[in-house]
Amino acid sequence: MGECSKKRSISFSPPDISDLEIAEVCEALKSGWITTGPRTKELEKRLANYCHTSKVVCLNSATAAEELNFRICGIGEGDEVIVPAYTYTATAAAAIHCGAKVVFVDCQKDSTEMDYDKLAEAITNKTKAIVVVDIAGIIASFERVFNVVEAKKDVFIPGGNTELGKRIQSALGRVLVFADDAHALGASKNGKMAGEIADFTDFSFHAVKNFTTAEGGASTWRDIPGIDNDEIYHQYQLYSLHGQSKDALAKTQLGAWEYDIVGPWYKCNMTDIMAAIGLRQLDRYPKLLMRRKEIIEKYDEMCDELGIKHLVHYTENSVSSGHLYLTRIPGVTDEQRREIIIKLAECGVSTNVHYKPLPMMSAYKEMGWDIKDFPNAYDYYANLITLPLHTKLSDEDVEYVRACYKDVVSQYI
Ligand SMILES: Cc1ncc(COP(=O)(O)O)c(C=O)c1O
Repeated sequence: MGECSKKRSISFSPPDISDLEIAEVCEALKSGWITTGPRTKELEKRLANYCHTSKVVCLNSATAAEELNFRICGIGEGDEVIVPAYTYTATAAAAIHCGAKVVFVDCQKDSTEMDYDKLAEAITNKTKAIVVVDIAGIIASFERVFNVVEAKKDVFIPGGNTELGKRIQSALGRVLVFADDAHALGASKNGKMAGEIADFTDFSFHAVKNFTTAEGGASTWRDIPGIDNDEIYHQYQLYSLHGQSKDALAKTQLGAWEYDIVGPWYKCNMTDIMAAIGLRQLDRYPKLLMRRKEIIEKYDEMCDELGIKHLVHYTENSVSSGHLYLTRIPGVTDEQRREIIIKLAECGVSTNVHYKPLPMMSAYKEMGWDIKDFPNAYDYYANLITLPLHTKLSDEDVEYVRACYKDVVSQYI
């Protein structure tokens, strides 16, 4: 058993918060401005610069960001939104919150990516958007998705339940492509950053993510011909702050107490305390990504040696954000996978499963979805274990995880 006998406690994904983030939060607290304000605006500018987009809107979660992306595009009742069966509930729930009907698509065999032939088949004249999920921080084949929506252009009927949404849908003239990049801040493919690939993108800064603001998220989008980015940005501000014509900071100007409510909308803004964490996380982010790469290389080496399937995070043209390390143990059943998870936990190694496909969840079963119709998603899930991958892992911790994994998994292959 070797290394594995000296028990350590390895958590799955703790936040990496340094003294820099703590000091910036203290400064924000002392500054007298703790809700949305200068730090949030600065973080938005820096993130837009980082993602190579014109604007970013910081919000309180990726779920809110994705929901507002739909609302900006005027997607709602009577519309269909295509979502992979293999994802977290937020991807689908955000569309449902807007009143749209979700249509699930299975993944390709032995892949987390959607089956693009099935995606094409799922498009109807009610389809307004496809959400592509860059699982684990690996950017999917957007070229394929854009080919599909271009090929299906004549089926697309521009709609939109808002004036801005109508203009966006008409300007794009095809099914809209959304990226759920909850995992993928900092990932890139063919020289393009996550955020500048899909029409609209959401990011998550939840506590377990690579880049965190405790809770938090952001939206960004590519320039759309004929539509002013300031107009889009302003509409996000209205949606995220009660439809109030002035935010709290603007109301502090002399005599500027009066405001209007232009819609009975939502409350999902980011606070300056959250942004304070984000600003200092962003300073550290390139180094955090490099550390993730080192750990992934160590895990890859172990998996390749054992004959374990794993995601490929780095290729010639694609750089992952290295968010999750998914392993699939050949030949093991769901029951054996559960045993392995318990044995690893007994060694002190926390693992996880990303994901139990949505058609297996009660809420989606009640909507009529059945996992039998998504065999590839089920197969991918059944023998999957996600390893701890984060920047609080020391080299010794990584060696310990490798030793325990080898020891336990070797009993099953
Ligand atoms: C794929 C995916 N999408 C969306 C979300 C939602 O993120 P948030 O918690 O910031 O709303 C998550 C969160 O884990 C996720 O994994």
